[in-house]
Amino acid sequence: MKKPGILVTGGTGYIGSHTTVELINAGYHVVIIDNLSNSNVAVLDGIEAITGVRPDFVEGDCTDMATLEGLFEKYTDIKGIINFAASKAVGESVQKPILYYRNNLNTLMNLLECMGRFGVDGIVFSSSCTVYGEPDVNPVTEQSPIKPATSPYGNTKQISEEIIEDVIHSGAPFKSIILRYFNPVGAHPSALIGELPNGVPQNLIPYLTQTAIGIRKELSVFGNDYPTPDGTCIRDFINVVDLAKAHVIAVERLVENKCLEPVEIFNLGTGNGVSVLELINTFEEATGVKVPHRFAPRREGDIIQVWADPRKANEVLGWKADTSLADTMSSAWKWQLALREKGIM
Ligand code: WQD
Repeated sequence: MKKPGILVTGGTGYIGSHTTVELINAGYHVVIIDNLSNSNVAVLDGIEAITGVRPDFVEGDCTDMATLEGLFEKYTDIKGIINFAASKAVGESVQKPILYYRNNLNTLMNLLECMGRFGVDGIVFSSSCTVYGEPDVNPVTEQSPIKPATSPYGNTKQISEEIIEDVIHSGAPFKSIILRYFNPVGAHPSALIGELPNGVPQNLIPYLTQTAIGIRKELSVFGNDYPTPDGTCIRDFINVVDLAKAHVIAVERLVENKCLEPVEIFNLGTGNGVSVLELINTFEEATGVKVPHRFAPRREGDIIQVWADPRKANEVLGWKADTSLADTMSSAWKWQLALREKGIM
């Protein structure tokens, strides 16, 4: 039976593009809407090269209701939405809170309003482990307490989850699955798509691979005096393709009406806490490439340690992040080499 259309907002972004590949591989018709504020339309070429299918693409902003209405009037087979479109730099959000609240919250509210009008069955929301703040206990489960946000970015994720709960409990004719990511890393094994940060990378892996290839002089490890075994922060680094596959399972669960509750929440992580130093060592062992690095002062707002208990996603979704960190680091390095080959970076 023909599979429905899935709207992927922010689909030319890092996680959105990898999810689009997996949706197409699973036989879905994908429509991407993206305002290209933090991504490049050439990503569509990479998706097509991998899958043989070019997704439908609308260059537009989800904060503009008329744009969304036009999209749903054109693509009448859309039954599911995966919402990635959001501003997502923690530091920038502290400088520009109104931009973050307006973009991230208006996007979501517009989508929710369209779903009832255009008969969409479900929305997968891209949330983040940032809602847990500094957990009292690791690993964190979906029942771990939500802590006050430490940035407007994190707050938009918490408020978005509350908006979804309230709208659906008001009797909206659709359901939602909220996915709380830990730290997405790596690239598609083809090295045809990957993370493409604008300017100086804020996140660890792109900065690390740019240092390894010589674009950056050295990697600053932000703090080695934390109360952890080697003094550096601990995170749950999850392969982006494994993460993308969880989105296909989630949207399938929605459009095939398999959800057990109107709103389901899942932690998407590996369940392994890895320190920044351990990650650097894993990269060097996996690639044979040294990463010049030095210890620098702590970065304000950093969580000391957070990693997932992914059992609920493992058992209910039948999904597991099973790509090794070594293979994930190799994929990140292969992607950085491909960018140099293409003269992009
Ligand atoms: C990881 C660790 C840094 C850069 C954030 C958001 C999260 C999600 C992912 C959007 C930290 C250290 C980093 C560097 C370093 N964002 N680090 N040197 O902060 O865990 O998560 O990005 O979806 O919601 O909160 O990710 O990669 O920035 O940092 O030492 O040059 O690496 O201190 O301990 P983070 P990150």
